[in-house]
Amino acid sequence: MTNKTTHALELHDVTKRHGAGDTAVTALDRVSLSIPHGTFTAVMGPSGSGKSTLLHCAAGLDRPDSGSVVLDGYELTDADETALTRLRRERMGFVFQSFNLVPTLTVAQNVALPLEFAGRRVDEREVRGLLSRLGLGDRLDHRPAELSGGQQQRVAIARAMLSRPAVVFADEPTGALDTQAARDVLHILREAVDASGQTIVMVTHDPVAGAYADAVVFFSDGRIVDSMTRPDPASVAARMARLSAPVRPSGHAPPSAVRPSGHVPSSAVRQSGQAPSSSVRTSGHAPSAPAPQNGRARHGGDGR
Ligand SMILES: Nc1ncnc2c1ncn2[C@@H]1O[C@H](COP(=O)(O)OP(=O)(O)OP(=O)(O)O)[C@@H](O)[C@H]1O
Ligand SMILES: [Mg+2]
Repeated sequence: MTNKTTHALELHDVTKRHGAGDTAVTALDRVSLSIPHGTFTAVMGPSGSGKSTLLHCAAGLDRPDSGSVVLDGYELTDADETALTRLRRERMGFVFQSFNLVPTLTVAQNVALPLEFAGRRVDEREVRGLLSRLGLGDRLDHRPAELSGGQQQRVAIARAMLSRPAVVFADEPTGALDTQAARDVLHILREAVDASGQTIVMVTHDPVAGAYADAVVFFSDGRIVDSMTRPDPASVAARMARLSAPVRPSGHAPPSAVRPSGHVPSSAVRQSGQAPSSSVRTSGHAPSAPAPQNGRARHGGDGR
């Protein structure tokens, strides 16, 4: 079970540099972020702004140079490789743009694989039930190559969620899908938060995808520069356009979204020690309280 007394995920002053010397890149620059249980957070920003690095550090796939990452109450930055591997298997799920299914295994075998790696018992009825809910009940014995992209991604989501992880990380999960398949996947992710209290952190470039989340965190140059609760596609697109626009010389101060200080606006996502902030679903908080309703209200009419 998750520890309801903590956030699902907390980053405190996380810095990560790639490379060394003149070519070194600061991919994350003192990033702090708190994400409550049972919420859906989108991470957005220009290419190269550090979104994937954030996910990798948050999931213990990469080690920050400094700062701390606490997942479901466990400090990752202190953990050795064995402990990290166990935490990843037991408390995290991953969904990637490229699905990453094992081509020689069936759909059902792919979904069960992480639990088998972890030496845990696989309840085949649960696998079947989950795949049926994702519209794949008649595809259990198919191989990935026999499925559409959207179907493959739904298998990957089932695989990520079977163990009921504390956090599912998704890096551009709809990036390789057509519009309808993307909507189906987003609807499934939204539903997992609303119906099961799943916590999801999703990187996306798509404002429509971002608007499925409870909150959007905007990155630029390795820093959180803004955040938005109850996002809608038009507002997210407008914010993204400002982030991606070339900096124009002007007489007055830049808007907060591109302020080079890089510090999160005070009301945004920092302040991990306090009452959760207003951005990343920062109420007190009951996992399925206001956020899910927002999601339903906005998206209930589409998808599957
Ligand atoms: N292994 C690496 N070695 C060197 N530099 C890296 C490495 N991984 C990432 N970087 C650099 O760190 C910065 C952040 O990269 P990251 O992949 O996190 O960006 P991103 O926001 O996910 O971009 P995209 O939207 O294109 O996926 C970029 O400048 C990138 O070139
Ligand atoms: Mg990336």
